[in-house]
Amino acid sequence: MSQGKRVGIVGAGNVGATVAYSLAMLGSCHEIILRDNKIDVAKGKALDMSQAASAVRSHTVVSVAEEMSDLVDCDVVVVTAGSPRLPGMSRDDLLMINAKITKEVIEGIAKYSPNAIVIMVSNPLDAMTYVALKESGFDRSRVIGMAGILDSSRMAAFIQEKLGYGGGQIRASVMGGHGDDMVPLPRYSTVAGVPLNDVLTQEEIDEIVDRTRHGGAEIVSYLKTGSAYYAPAKSTAIMVEAILKDTKQIHPCAVCLDGEYGYSDVVSGVPVMLGAKGAEKIIEVTLDEKEKAMFAQSCNSVQKLIDTLNKNKFFEGK
Ligand code: LAC
Repeated sequence: MSQGKRVGIVGAGNVGATVAYSLAMLGSCHEIILRDNKIDVAKGKALDMSQAASAVRSHTVVSVAEEMSDLVDCDVVVVTAGSPRLPGMSRDDLLMINAKITKEVIEGIAKYSPNAIVIMVSNPLDAMTYVALKESGFDRSRVIGMAGILDSSRMAAFIQEKLGYGGGQIRASVMGGHGDDMVPLPRYSTVAGVPLNDVLTQEEIDEIVDRTRHGGAEIVSYLKTGSAYYAPAKSTAIMVEAILKDTKQIHPCAVCLDGEYGYSDVVSGVPVMLGAKGAEKIIEVTLDEKEKAMFAQSCNSVQKLIDTLNKNKFFEGK
C-alpha cells in the first residue's frame, strides 16, 4: 500500500461530497473514491469535482466505486453514510437505522481496504464509532470519530460573534460525546491566549456553552431538510489531512477509551494526536470536579446507546 494516496468516502451526500471537494481543492491526496448507492449522483459529483480540481491545477482525481469492492486499498476511508437527521429528530433516534448501515459499510472496508484508517461521521457519532470499531476488528487507533473539531469550531465562532473581535485567534475546547451533553471547556478556551473569563461575563460564557451544545440542531432548524455540512466536512478534511501528512497535531476526536479519564469500552471525544497511524496518542487533560461530572454524564449517554445496541443483540456473534 502506498501511503497518503487514496481516500475513500462512503456516502456522497452533502457532507461526503463537501469533504471530497475540500480535499480535492487542497490536492491532499492523489485519488478520492466516492461510494454511494445513488451511483449516477456520485458519478456526476465526481466529474464535477475532477473538473474543479483541474481548474485549480490540483492533481487529485475523483472517481466512483460502483461496489464496495471497488473501494480498494484506501489509506483513509471517511464514512458519512446514514439516514440524515430530520427536524425534531434527535441524533439518538438514528441509532438502530444507522448502526445497521455502518455495520454493512465497515464489513466492506475491512475486506477491501484492510489497512485504512476509518473516520466516522455518521450520527449518533460516538455510538457509530463504537459500532465501526467492533465490526472492523481494527485497533482503536484506526477508528476515529469526527465531532470535536466541529464542536470546538462552533464554540469559537460563537465566541467571535459575542465578542465582535478575535476571529482566527480563538482556541475553543470541547470534549465528550457529540450530543446535547457534550462538554465545552471555557477554562481551556482562549482568545489569542487570553482566558475567556477575562473578556466575557459568566452569563455570556454560559450562553455560548448552551449554544455550542445545540449548534447542530440550530442549523437543522433553518435548513429543515438536512443537517449542517460545511463545518462538519471541513472538520473531517482537517482530520484526513493530519493523517495523510502525518502532522502529529492534537485535535479533539472521538475514540474508544481504554482506561483514559477512568473509562473503558466507551467512545468519547478527547484530545488525540493524529498521525499516519491514526489516533497515535490520547492526551489526558486535567479536569476539575464540575468538568469531570459533565464528562461522566456525556460518557453515560454514549454508554446508554451502546447498551441499547447490546439489548437489541446488535453485536451477537462478535
Ligand atoms: C451536526 C450534526 C451533523 O452537529 O451532528 O451538525
